[in-house]
Amino acid sequence: MQEQALYGAKMMQPGLTAADSEENNLRPQHLEDYIGQEKVKQNLKIYLEAARRRGEAMDHVLLYGPPGLGKTTLAGIIANEMGVQIRITSGPAIEKPGDLAALLTNLQEGDVLFIDEIHRLSRQVEEVLYPALEDYALDIIIGKGPSAQSIRINLPHFTLVGATTRAGQLTGPLRDRFGVLLKLELYSPDELARIIRRSAGILDQPITPEGAYELAKRSRGTPRVANRFLKRVRDFATVLGDGVIDEEVCLMALRRMDVDELGLDELDRSLLRAIIEMYGGGPVGLETLAAALGEEAVTLEDLSEPYLMQMGFLTRTPRGRCVTHLAYEHLGMRPPEHLAPEESGQQTMF
Ligand code: ADE
Repeated sequence: MQEQALYGAKMMQPGLTAADSEENNLRPQHLEDYIGQEKVKQNLKIYLEAARRRGEAMDHVLLYGPPGLGKTTLAGIIANEMGVQIRITSGPAIEKPGDLAALLTNLQEGDVLFIDEIHRLSRQVEEVLYPALEDYALDIIIGKGPSAQSIRINLPHFTLVGATTRAGQLTGPLRDRFGVLLKLELYSPDELARIIRRSAGILDQPITPEGAYELAKRSRGTPRVANRFLKRVRDFATVLGDGVIDEEVCLMALRRMDVDELGLDELDRSLLRAIIEMYGGGPVGLETLAAALGEEAVTLEDLSEPYLMQMGFLTRTPRGRCVTHLAYEHLGMRPPEHLAPEESGQQTMF
């Protein structure tokens, strides 16, 4: 079992990589520093305040949405705002019920247990989680056969924060045990530009507003991508420029990183091209497409598709994925006759 705890003063385990701790430095620690996701923030603020006033642990929270939008960051903020410790682990890291039992029995009153990729918990582990969530109890079976006995161990009142990119894959019983469901949305370029300027400030990196906006526009709605671009463009500005990130350095760096003017990378473009060149624009099933590209279906589904759909380049139909006329135009290709512009983004033509 692997377990990590990533948060500032409340950090419970060291052993982080340099990349982890650098990403952590950029993570806001409090809700008021968290940019974007206004609806989520407003509601979360109420739930946190109510729990604090009642002197109770916060109810269990499920965060869902595409990767890189700040689910781990929000879990850390929940712990910080409640003044408790956070333990960070993930669904695949909890291999056996005993692993989960060990985690749960080491929690203190009020602590946050963050389980990333919670949809990947095994059924047996999930079974142990149910009484823990509902009654703050662990049911342990001792012995085998007719003489087996069940004993109940009480647990501290804790908050489970589960994160998933795919809420639909959670079993019903697990989903029903979360009192708070929060859906994270892709960020707007304005919000990403604010995040980039904030991160640049923390890194002590000069950046012009135009530079920040140029990066923001190409960050595919995702703070993780925005912060990654910021660090790479900073390298170009340091080595090839005068140290300041302006629009010119951004354009040069992003071109060299094969990121186009709308933020599509090589994977996005090859996905669209494959649908057009191999499947006549679609529909094509996700698994077929993944095999054609030599990628995992989940990689396409989690990393490429949310942004391509948001941009209106891709649609999901019951028969498979289709590209729109906008995708053809973006790739500099001529859309076929049947893809009239007014039909783009709709699924009526199949
Ligand atoms: N860094 C990463 N995500 C952020 C967010 N939503 N607000 C502020 N800084 C961030």
